[in-house]
Amino acid sequence: MMHPSDTLRAAVIGLGPRGSGLLPTMTAVPGMRITAICDLDADLVKKGSDILKERGVEAECFQDYHEIIRRKETDLVFVITNWISHIPITIDFLRAGIPTAAEVCGASSLRECWELVRAQEESGTPFMFLENCCFGRLELAALRLAREGVLGRVEYAEGAYCHDIRYAFLNPERHRVKANIHRHGDLYPTHSIGAVSKILRVNCGNRLVSVSSMGSPANGMRSYFDRFAPDNPMRDIPFACEDVTCSLIRCAGGELIFLKHNVLLPRPYSRGFLVQGTLGIISEDKDALHIESAQEDGHRGHGEWQPLHEIRDQIDHPLWRDYAASASDPHGGMDFLELRDFVRRVRGRLPMAVDVYDAAAWMCLTPLSAQSIEMGGAPQAIPDFTDGKWAEREEVPFV
Ligand SMILES: NC(=O)c1ccc[n+]([C@@H]2O[C@H](COP(=O)([O-])OP(=O)(O)OC[C@H]3O[C@@H](n4cnc5c(N)ncnc54)[C@H](O)[C@@H]3O)[C@@H](O)[C@H]2O)c1
Repeated sequence: MMHPSDTLRAAVIGLGPRGSGLLPTMTAVPGMRITAICDLDADLVKKGSDILKERGVEAECFQDYHEIIRRKETDLVFVITNWISHIPITIDFLRAGIPTAAEVCGASSLRECWELVRAQEESGTPFMFLENCCFGRLELAALRLAREGVLGRVEYAEGAYCHDIRYAFLNPERHRVKANIHRHGDLYPTHSIGAVSKILRVNCGNRLVSVSSMGSPANGMRSYFDRFAPDNPMRDIPFACEDVTCSLIRCAGGELIFLKHNVLLPRPYSRGFLVQGTLGIISEDKDALHIESAQEDGHRGHGEWQPLHEIRDQIDHPLWRDYAASASDPHGGMDFLELRDFVRRVRGRLPMAVDVYDAAAWMCLTPLSAQSIEMGGAPQAIPDFTDGKWAEREEVPFV
């Protein structure tokens, strides 16, 4: 039985830019201490160990995560490897009974989504999907506004992963580059679908029913190489992934979600987050909110945007209001909030706010969007990974 003052022993698997980048934030999370780190690459393990030592943390070093499972000295684990290995590694830890948090990705197949769900259900081991954008300041403010009824009945939402990452695509051996060369569709759907799913109570009274997708041509990388790296041998490699993929998702409650994946053309970063209900709308790209007031003449249609900076303090979610921004956190606090949430919930044996059903419903959009594009945009059924439980499941609040 865990004592409230016990510090949980954490392992981190995968020390690429994301895993090593999260280490400083992890050392700031109360209630846990990193005791083991692992990567296939010994140099990255050494680098990770040095990052921790600078913060006074001594962790054992591994290149084979199975050893961490075997030694039975780990209370929770963070899987931060790559799109191909997240799910199998997570399943190994879940089946070994070690509470697991896994970084985000799109699935390769529906089968692996089902395998993840079954592993969690059969083992009963706590699992959290590290969809950090659910903990974003704007996303949580919108969740609060939706739950307080300020937006009215939410009917429509948008999300996007608009992130020009062409600069990082110069090495064909990186898993993410390989994925964009060989696969297509919305390869990275969770940052866009996660927060809007939470607002629409997906898997807790609502569910994602179908997805229809279309894709643009794929000329972004060729144009990039022509202009900035004409001698790179990758210049002539065709990319299978469309430069822009657009998906329309229908929910069981009739709501509509528009998603965009856009990583191979020049543009500023945006998650294109937007939520619209019968009383108003909040938009990331506008950085503004519009709520129809009781005094407004509803027939004039001249609603004005109110800049978010004017009302941030009034709309902030309590999680953000209470959070003092951590200087070492590259994602402005949402990484810290999600990591702390996982540790709190493992310690308190509480249900996860972002769970295995969310992970499966969001990750499956990758193969389904590809399938839809191949069929000219034909709607693809999204499996009900809860096996019908979605209608009765209670929402787990972000607290
Ligand atoms: N939530 C976010 O904001 C966010 C941001 C960046 C990346 N990510 C996700 O984090 C993951 C990691 O990203 P990255 O850029 O660091 O990727 P990366 O491929 O550069 O690094 C992954 C690391 O995992 C290691 N690895 C792979 N298989 C392993 C295994 N079996 N055992 C031990 N180590 C193994 C690799 O050697 C590599 O060092 C990706 O899935 C990415 O989508 C999330």
